[in-house]
Amino acid sequence: MRLPDYKEARTRDKRSYKRVDFEIDDKVKNKYKGKNFCLKTYGCQMNEHDSENIKALLVYLGFVPVSDYESADLVLLNTCSIRENAHNKAFGMLGRLKHLKSKRRDLLIGLCGCMAQEASVTSEILERYPFVNFVFGTHNIYQLPNILDKAITDNKQQIEVFSREGDLVEGLPVIRTNNYKAYVNIIYGCDKFCTYCIVPYTRGRERSRKKEDILAEVDSLIRDGYKEITLLGQNVNAYGKDLYSDYNLGNLLEDIAQKEILRIRFMTSHPWDFTDHMVEVLGKYSNIMPSVHLPVQSGSNKVLKLMGRRYTRESYLELFNKIKKTVPSVAMSTDIIVGFPGESEDDFLDTLSLVHECKFDNAFTFIFSKREGTPACKLEDNTTDQEKEMRLQRLNEVVNHYFLENNKKLVGKVILVLVEGLSSKKDNMYFGYSDTNKLINFTSSEPVNSGDLVSVKITEAKTWSLDGEIIN
Ligand code: 5AD
Ligand code: SF4
Repeated sequence: MRLPDYKEARTRDKRSYKRVDFEIDDKVKNKYKGKNFCLKTYGCQMNEHDSENIKALLVYLGFVPVSDYESADLVLLNTCSIRENAHNKAFGMLGRLKHLKSKRRDLLIGLCGCMAQEASVTSEILERYPFVNFVFGTHNIYQLPNILDKAITDNKQQIEVFSREGDLVEGLPVIRTNNYKAYVNIIYGCDKFCTYCIVPYTRGRERSRKKEDILAEVDSLIRDGYKEITLLGQNVNAYGKDLYSDYNLGNLLEDIAQKEILRIRFMTSHPWDFTDHMVEVLGKYSNIMPSVHLPVQSGSNKVLKLMGRRYTRESYLELFNKIKKTVPSVAMSTDIIVGFPGESEDDFLDTLSLVHECKFDNAFTFIFSKREGTPACKLEDNTTDQEKEMRLQRLNEVVNHYFLENNKKLVGKVILVLVEGLSSKKDNMYFGYSDTNKLINFTSSEPVNSGDLVSVKITEAKTWSLDGEIIN
């Protein structure tokens, strides 16, 4: 048994980590043939991509995926800790699984992902959830075959969570959810330690993949017919800092943009690490999509300081405007937290005025959620829950107004859409995404295929999507 420890998870030092190739014993191939599994994924794209690896490992062992957990032999929850409601969802699911297991003693239950990295969660599982067969963390996904095997063979709860990142394992098998859009990890972990955020504890320190490994993965995706890749990391703009003195996200984007790939995206960016060179690169290549997610979190300098964000409202706006000027067609999106401890009405008004200034194309808005072990958890918080709810509502009204305003500007324009599939509404209705990552629903009398790039004339703007018709 190995339990996580936050003190250790916080430590950052110059200790080097090894890059190792994933290996698996042939003997376990199809060992569990005839069994099926249901994998439930909560949280961000990082978790979604981890689930693509987890799925491939389970399929190697002979398991078959099913979507209905009630008929599965194994249910695995890949969890998220970012806010309390993500936590509650996973624990709610564990409650339902407890009930199911009382009827089906042979049901296997596993938990992994960010919640597994929290000491309070693993100790709770140890004490109150004895029916959970195994737990592993974000740093040792590659050990899943062994941990699962041990849980079955020993018939004893297995908890194997590393507090700190171990080796950087390359070559994990992957079964991708989409046949033409792929996620590519470029950097793991985060060293920023924003005071509200649990990620540096659950995902470890920043570790970049070698550029050769990333470029080889992109080449193989291109060979397999992928049209769009999204470079992933908690903070992609820190890419390369731990490995190279002269190679960063800008260089990586340039190397990838020169390949035969239709669309390149990247997320998430921290304003602190966004260099002028990176901005320049965005403007230089037409296959780097004009869509930048740049979380601001607050428009108040006082709150930004309490959050440990390392920038001011003014320096955020300077970067924002630089990107807009260099890439005029860019769609900017953001994340905003309201109700951070100490946020006054005036601070909140600063956030609203920043939104009026930036007119974001998309924004994810949240109420501050206390995460145990983070510095913000200890800050004095005098704002009532009701007031926080009101602020969220007021903020949402303003952000929604600008989503619609920005979308209205596209009515009558012809835009390129990468087709995702048939939308359920009507038989000749399809959906896909624009270069700026807007959801487009469109009609076409001729069938179109997922992965096609088509021209669509926009006929109607809505707050979260646009309607249109295909142009032949
Ligand atoms: N409470 C509320 N929102 C949070 N986020 C991260 N941590 C918290 C928290 N403790 C939000 C931030 C981040 C996004 C992924 O989630 O806005 O950018
Ligand atoms: Fe949730 Fe953050 Fe973990 Fe993603 S990295 S799953 S957002 S806690």
